[in-house]
Amino acid sequence: MVADDKGLLAIDESIGTCNRRFAALGIPETADRRRAWRELIVTTPGLGQSISGAILCDETIRQRTGGEASFVSVLDDAGILPGIKVDAGTIELAGHPGEKITEGLDGLQARLATYAEMGARFAKWRGVIAVDADRPSRGCVEANAQALARYATICQQVGLVPVVEPEVLMEGSHDLARCAEVTEAVLRAFFRHADEQGVMLEAMILKPNMVLPGLDCANQEDADTIANATVNCLLHTVPASVPGIAFLSGGQTGELASARLNAMNLRFRGRMPWQLAFSFARAIQQPALQIWAGQDDRVQAAQAALAHRAMCNHAARRGAYDAAMELTPAAASAR
Ligand code: G3H
Repeated sequence: MVADDKGLLAIDESIGTCNRRFAALGIPETADRRRAWRELIVTTPGLGQSISGAILCDETIRQRTGGEASFVSVLDDAGILPGIKVDAGTIELAGHPGEKITEGLDGLQARLATYAEMGARFAKWRGVIAVDADRPSRGCVEANAQALARYATICQQVGLVPVVEPEVLMEGSHDLARCAEVTEAVLRAFFRHADEQGVMLEAMILKPNMVLPGLDCANQEDADTIANATVNCLLHTVPASVPGIAFLSGGQTGELASARLNAMNLRFRGRMPWQLAFSFARAIQQPALQIWAGQDDRVQAAQAALAHRAMCNHAARRGAYDAAMELTPAAASAR
């Protein structure tokens, strides 16, 4: 999943989230348009050169392309591992106003077995941590960390690789140091629970946030500062037996996400015990979605933009991304 400088592509937005992104662009919020969008993505020529695995959602893994092939078989043919989002979304955490807990542990083992029979090779679960002066509470961090650890053990029991996603949100005015402090606390809690639950660290992928200042923070740091903060945070918390770390993008632009991943791989080359990869949704999909806008005659142009962002991140894994790569014809058409 993190070999050959490739990374994961998340196309597992819930129906509600996908519809919200469609609505913003005037795309009909229908099962058929969601299917068409995901078909455009998985049939992008050459996608397997940069992408090792794609995370599907329950709706997509059950759908077929216009040519009647299952999404799993299209991915298999492209040399891309099929994965599946298995959490059931977040609800308010009782007793902790404004904080969330992720649901979906009940019946998880049986659901995972079904997905494995359908061809999934790995799974994903996202926990959400909000930041402000008083949050996160210890109760929120511990509850989410334990759920992630229990999910990971259940995945490994049925032979699926768990992608463990504890997301510290970008919303807020907190600074870089505060994000680092919260991210460290969350990762420490997860690995403590992982130990208690018996997670095999060598058979999981961690999908964390980059350490970033909040969106409303006045001081938006440069890529090198963010790279230092992020990798140092991970070096303090993530055991060397974890083979790969694949970041979520969290709402960063595609260019920023690539530049920051590149800075990490460039500055810390040879000094990290794990592979440092990507598992982006918006930072790979968004320019292509804007080009497609639901129109079947724009599929090729959208696929070119998608392949371009995937390729930029493939380069960022080697520390070989350069902002000049954004001036290619594919990128220009994405603007
Ligand atoms: O759960 C969230 C996705 O897997 C990653 O999405 O890269 O847009 O944050 P994002």
